[in-house]
Amino acid sequence: MSSINYSEKIPNNVNLSEDRALQRALEQWQPNFLNWWGDVGPAGSSNYDVYLRTAVSVDPQGWAQFGYVKMPEYRWGIFLNPAEKDRKIHFGEHMGEPVWQEVPGEHRANLRRIIVTQGDTEPASVEQQRHLGLTAPSLYDLRNLFQVNVEEGRHLWAMVYLLHRYFGRDGREEAEALLDRRSGDEDNPRILGAFNEKTPDWLSFFMFTYFTDRDGKFQLSALAESGFDPLARTTKFMLTEEAHHMFVGESGVSRVIQRTCEVMNQLKTDDPDRIRAAGVIDLGTIQRYLNFHYSVTIDLFGADQSSNAAIFYSSGLKGRYEEGKRTDDHRLRDEAYKVLEVRDGQLVEREVPMLNGLNEVLRDDFIKDSMAGVARWNKVIEKAGLPMRLTVPHKAFNRQIGSLSGVRVSPEGRVVSQEEWDAKKDEWLPSAEDRAFVASLMGRVAEPGKFANWIAPPVMGINRQPVDFEYVRFN
Ligand SMILES: [Fe+2]
Ligand SMILES: [Fe+2]
Repeated sequence: MSSINYSEKIPNNVNLSEDRALQRALEQWQPNFLNWWGDVGPAGSSNYDVYLRTAVSVDPQGWAQFGYVKMPEYRWGIFLNPAEKDRKIHFGEHMGEPVWQEVPGEHRANLRRIIVTQGDTEPASVEQQRHLGLTAPSLYDLRNLFQVNVEEGRHLWAMVYLLHRYFGRDGREEAEALLDRRSGDEDNPRILGAFNEKTPDWLSFFMFTYFTDRDGKFQLSALAESGFDPLARTTKFMLTEEAHHMFVGESGVSRVIQRTCEVMNQLKTDDPDRIRAAGVIDLGTIQRYLNFHYSVTIDLFGADQSSNAAIFYSSGLKGRYEEGKRTDDHRLRDEAYKVLEVRDGQLVEREVPMLNGLNEVLRDDFIKDSMAGVARWNKVIEKAGLPMRLTVPHKAFNRQIGSLSGVRVSPEGRVVSQEEWDAKKDEWLPSAEDRAFVASLMGRVAEPGKFANWIAPPVMGINRQPVDFEYVRFN
């Protein structure tokens, strides 16, 4: 069951060849996917040989095979974790009933919406990252970018399979629409805000893969609990791929910080102008990028109070992060949760029914997880003997969604006037000048083992290869 059939046009472990109509429909979607990849996938990359991992089984041990692949020839396919025998729905009003192998009619519209919303983020990030290959700071980093890109493409396949297999005609239409929307397009944008932002430089890319791919981790973890078994099984396998994306982000930012600290110590200065003149990114700019990506990403969890979130949970469609490890009643009808709101110009906590606050529950789980990595970044600064520290901004900072969207809040959590916000905005979020400076450092480094001046080399290579391995061959 866990082995993947690579002899078919669409690699899969779902016995696709036994369902001719489905196979035909997906084989018709496949060229459209490849056209989309060619149009808005990684710019200029089609002829490179890239040292990529490809899934060869869904076993936790050794599912990956590494080798040179031309990206348009990457074997995108459909891989589900094996079914768990006698699995039961373990939260919500259907708790204790067997999981669903087909879509229950009454939950059809909600399930489709959940799958489309998740599916839409996958091609969006490929579009957002499409020009980054042209300015990669090393072959190692270029390879990691491309690995993330092909796997986001595969995540799109994962969702499209569910749409085709379980939703019939409107599922197929949704699958087409996933290739039609474009990140940042005014007329036909991607569904969620953060996926319409630009990822114009590598510091943005590393912040994005640290924070926004981590949103992916939490959304997928919540869907991996789903009573709709095919969704649970496919998201479980997606999570194993997602881990590498967050590694790229965490280690990337860490290496930027490390290099900056080295230069600060060499020059014995914390003057941003001198640090920048030495061609590295000052810690203040890194903090502002962090503030931006963090705040934009926590918006992805949705409004702090949401009747949809309650319905998704009670219906057994979307659980909490690590639902199975929690010891409450998994129905939550009598539980409460604290959300923030502004009263008389102050941020105050308010208790709401937990079912309505489940977006906030997931957001808070994400925040905890995010802060752990920021603490590891601070260790790098501490080790360098420098006193500065990075922090995550207050949860209410720079929010566009939910009850906090109407107020201006400083990174420390102080409600401020519009005037103060306007005056301080460039201290809190990347200014046009910050972005122009970071952009000025970007330029492709393509010699094996060489790294751009603004980033330290990684501790080790990919798949136990040396750091100076030729991870990408340009031909
Ligand atoms: Fe993804
Ligand atoms: Fe990802």
